[in-house]
Amino acid sequence: MSNAGLSSTRRQRAWGGLVGVALLLALWLLWLLGPAPGGAPGPQPTVTILVWHWPFAEQPPELPHNTCTPYGLAHCRLSTDRSLLASADAVVFHHRELETRRSRLPLAQRPQGQPWVWASMESPSHTHGLHRLRGVFNWVLSYRRDSDIFVPYGRLEPRLGPAPPLPAKSGLAAWVVSNFQERQLRAKLYRQLAPHLRVDVFGRASRRPLCADCLLPTVARYRFYLAFENSQHRDYITEKFWRNALAAGAVPVVLGPPRATYEAFAPADAFVHVDDFGSAFELAAFLAGMNESRYQRFFAWRSRLRVRLFSDWRERFCAVCARMPHLPRGRVYEDLEGWFRA
Ligand SMILES: *[C@@H]1O[C@H](CO)[C@@H](O)[C@H](O)[C@H]1NC(C)=O
Repeated sequence: MSNAGLSSTRRQRAWGGLVGVALLLALWLLWLLGPAPGGAPGPQPTVTILVWHWPFAEQPPELPHNTCTPYGLAHCRLSTDRSLLASADAVVFHHRELETRRSRLPLAQRPQGQPWVWASMESPSHTHGLHRLRGVFNWVLSYRRDSDIFVPYGRLEPRLGPAPPLPAKSGLAAWVVSNFQERQLRAKLYRQLAPHLRVDVFGRASRRPLCADCLLPTVARYRFYLAFENSQHRDYITEKFWRNALAAGAVPVVLGPPRATYEAFAPADAFVHVDDFGSAFELAAFLAGMNESRYQRFFAWRSRLRVRLFSDWRERFCAVCARMPHLPRGRVYEDLEGWFRA
């Protein structure tokens, strides 16, 4: 009996050990495989983007929790509530307000490892004070294609359905300018073109200012729109190209980055680039002497593509959420000015 008793105790111990090892194995496997297949996935955590200053506005717009849902980002929340600094997943700083209000960055309250985003849609010529922002920002949001969060002013997308008819044309070339400065290249080119080409000038800097809703119907009546950027910089193509010309139904005559940059955004035959001509006289002769069939070729893209404008800051900031999972952590723009001026 005593022998049998002893052996049964041994058997129990052996079984106990086996069950223990099996349990450990099972736990290890569970840990390795993650949630059991077929199990319900956990709720996706909401990403909070704190916008430190709403661009060009005293009052931020209403930002309901579902602000980013129309852009396909249901789990992304924008807020301007600065008390969220300690917990926000990323903080966006719009440059213009850093520049003009001389606001201090909340560096002392910055949580360790919190990504900070520098945001601007202006060109380097109209951006000041970058030297004060060394070693602060992790990501850049801008129109530059090499930005961490790239937000162009516009884009061509596939068109579903037929294109609306082109507006009827009654004028040759229109230009809208609100800030005319002789030292700018666009002013010089206009001065050279004007003797050879009838250009109707609108906007605050002219005798014909336009109300906000009048701009598109007005320029749509012209065959060409002078989409001259205020300064010439890498990738700097603004709403003058996308909205005032392509979306309005006028052919853009562009002065900006090189032709190759425009061709990265739009078909090569959708615009006239001033660099294609040896002189302003040649450009004027090309525009004024064009026959109707040649002119219509500039609109070949319209049957398959449409213009999508990105002008809403909400959409631009929601793009931070979309890009975040793909962005490097821990990198810092030590020389933001050098990067932006390159
Ligand atoms: C229109 O202009 C194009 C390019 O200059 C030329 O090749 C074409 O023959 C012209 N068509 C007519 C009908 O004059």
